[in-house]
Amino acid sequence: MQIDSNTKLYCLIGHPISKSLSPDIHNYSFEQNNINAKYMAFDVLEENLESSIKGIKALGINGFNVTIPHKVNIIKYLDDIDEEAKLLGAVNTVKNVNGKLIGFNTDGRGFIQVLKDKNIKIKDKNILMIGAGGAARAISIILAKEGINKIKILNRTKEKSIEIINEIKEKFPNVIGTYGTLSENREEISDTDIAINCTSIGMYPDVNCLPIDPNIFPNDTIVCDIVYKPLLTKFLKVSQEIGLDTIGGLDMLIYQGILSEEIWLEKNVDKNMVINWFKKRKL
Ligand code: ATR
Repeated sequence: MQIDSNTKLYCLIGHPISKSLSPDIHNYSFEQNNINAKYMAFDVLEENLESSIKGIKALGINGFNVTIPHKVNIIKYLDDIDEEAKLLGAVNTVKNVNGKLIGFNTDGRGFIQVLKDKNIKIKDKNILMIGAGGAARAISIILAKEGINKIKILNRTKEKSIEIINEIKEKFPNVIGTYGTLSENREEISDTDIAINCTSIGMYPDVNCLPIDPNIFPNDTIVCDIVYKPLLTKFLKVSQEIGLDTIGGLDMLIYQGILSEEIWLEKNVDKNMVINWFKKRKL
């Protein structure tokens, strides 16, 4: 679609942003859905965050995504934030509503939505989270909010998993949270229903690394990997070979991106069309 005087502008602010797939995701989706909008990525340093927000307001840019390192610092420049952004203390999506900037967070919600669309129930399931970085925290906390009752977090650095477990226990006292390291005993995780790798283990170029051997899991465990390069990580490949269902990182990435778009446009957007297009491309 041609750019004209009615074209809406959405963007990403962060640093660095040169490898971000967000412009590809949104411009493809806008084009396919006949939406007169474009998406740009802006490299914004910490010291320019405030002035860039003023610029966004002054120009009437319709909405934007926020990535590292601004997800927390952005909050003080926003007019309001929604419940999940408040819960996570971080914002990855901002909507400009008549000059007021409202913050949202789709980081954990994207994963929940993938599960919902695949009809995977999370209530009463034993969740195994591998990793304790930003993505692991967002997904774990939103899972807790959604009503899981058991989660175990394994991480190379134990202190970081303890921090997330303590946060979950404080905010959701009904959730049973435990932690451990990546060399956790087989018996300890043999009741896993849903395993989620939120570490970078297995990411290109270290494609032969495994966060945990999937042979440990029962034969109905669903194995998920946040890594999307390669599309089929070794963690997912080995899981599939032993007959486990898997969910790849591309689904999660595109879901959280398109959820931002749904917030901006206030309508449902086809996520599978974007996923299928990406699967055909070389990432
Ligand atoms: P993100 O925002 O994507 O979650 P992050 O906050 O940097 O990124 O978190 C990276 C996660 O991958 C952490 O859990 C990290 O473990 P540590 O907390 O011990 O650093 C994990 N990770 C990265 N490289 C790893 C490796 N080679 N072995 C084990 N864990 C690794």
